[in-house]
Amino acid sequence: MLNTAVMVSGGGTNLQAILDAIESGEIEGARLVLVISSRADARALSRAAAHGVPTFVAGKAEFPLAEERSAAIASALRGAGAELIVLAGYMHVLEPRIIREFEGRIINIHPSLIPKYCGLGFYGKRVHRAVLAAGERESGATVHYVDEGVDTGPILLQERVPVLEGDDADGLAARVLETEHRILVRAVNLLAKEKNRKNGEV
Ligand code: GRF
Repeated sequence: MLNTAVMVSGGGTNLQAILDAIESGEIEGARLVLVISSRADARALSRAAAHGVPTFVAGKAEFPLAEERSAAIASALRGAGAELIVLAGYMHVLEPRIIREFEGRIINIHPSLIPKYCGLGFYGKRVHRAVLAAGERESGATVHYVDEGVDTGPILLQERVPVLEGDDADGLAARVLETEHRILVRAVNLLAKEKNRKNGEV
């Protein structure tokens, strides 16, 4: 079993996609052990609670000092036995100490074809507005490993999404989000199978 923690800040539709895929058996060999949110009012928290997944809120309000915040996050992840950490709509850059402790075991979902339209300032609707402003004919979603840069780690999965005539940022965001859900579920499934194969688990 791949013990998986998910870090969120908002609506949690990517988290929901993982929850649903585990429930339906589309994801085999992974279980959610913790959901960490940077905001106490994130809808993602109620999605986790509805599936009985433990939650932990670690935002600036709860831990004003970055050092304390990252120590609390690291200890919550360790305590839950997290083996994979999924950043799903998590709107903060993880402290280097967490990246180092969990190196190679943190993935992020980004709503563009990295290396385009990513990095500092490229998140949420800003990504899609930039894609449209540049007149791109296609966009996409990317799952990548997290390193100490912003959206710079090795790419795990990527899928293209067409930009259609008349698309506005909301329309493009919605189409890309569907692809995010699909490739994030595929990525967790891949990593779960890989870990379970290594451990000789079925
Ligand atoms: C999504 O657009 C995703 O690209 C980004 O965060 C946004 C919200 O995701 N990572 P979610 O609905 O909170 O999963």
